[in-house]
Amino acid sequence: MVELTLPKNSKMTGKGKAFTAAKKDGGQYRTFKIYRYDPDGGENPRVDSYEVEMTGVSMVLDALIKIKNEMDPTLTFRRSCREGVCGSCSMNINGANTLACTKGMHELGSGDVTVYPLPHQPVVKDLVTDLTNFYKQHAYIQPFLQADASEREKEFLQSPEARAKLDGLYECILCASCSTSCPSYWWNGDKPDGEEYLGPAALLQAYRWLSDSRDEKTNERLDKLEDEFKLYRCHTIMNCAQVCPKGLNPAKAIAEIKKMMVNRPAKGESPAAHKAAPAKA
Ligand code: SF4
Ligand code: FES
Repeated sequence: MVELTLPKNSKMTGKGKAFTAAKKDGGQYRTFKIYRYDPDGGENPRVDSYEVEMTGVSMVLDALIKIKNEMDPTLTFRRSCREGVCGSCSMNINGANTLACTKGMHELGSGDVTVYPLPHQPVVKDLVTDLTNFYKQHAYIQPFLQADASEREKEFLQSPEARAKLDGLYECILCASCSTSCPSYWWNGDKPDGEEYLGPAALLQAYRWLSDSRDEKTNERLDKLEDEFKLYRCHTIMNCAQVCPKGLNPAKAIAEIKKMMVNRPAKGESPAAHKAAPAKA
């Protein structure tokens, strides 16, 4: 029988603090209920509520910055580009993983807004999660071109058709919204080395390099994915495609890798048959 236990200090207890706004005539207000956890404080997590005056707030990130600047400087979250490019402001907003900087307030309907860290990751503080394992999985798929350039005299050209195969793959900003919304990743994503599911983000990137007409390590890349866990724990739940803020479809990429596994050439045969022909130099 499986025995489930929650990690120490993971249960929400205690009453959160409530921060109210100084009311102005004609002002628009919205309440944000935000997960708070400080591992150094020794207390269990709580949810604080902030009544925010909405002037100048169009995105959820605007509200978080306003809260930090004007109401509670202890609130901790990551952000950098404010343009949906760096991937650092990913969090769970009203129950769905997304980017705070591109999630418009108008998309959230009326009522309170809940803001939690990405699910099933260790929390460093408040909305900041520890993505060490996520990045380790990305490194595992070797996200770089592997081709012997030693005898190449000209630049490594790619035909427009071959380049088009990378559309829908290269745009990933590694925000982790997809992997951390996947129940199979929650369950199998942090097992000891060799027994873990790599998750939608790492596998989308694996397929990006498998699809690259210039890469020469197709067989080796497939070998690294071929076991019971790394690839085959995808059960096509599709949360990944639903939440991806860049509109990508990791589940489709995973299905394509599974097809490549089935169709992969026998040892000794050329692995390049599935790829678009490289451009003539
Ligand atoms: S596939 Fe989408 S959701 Fe997943 S890490 Fe990349 S950008 Fe984020
Ligand atoms: S701050 Fe860079 S993606 Fe949101």
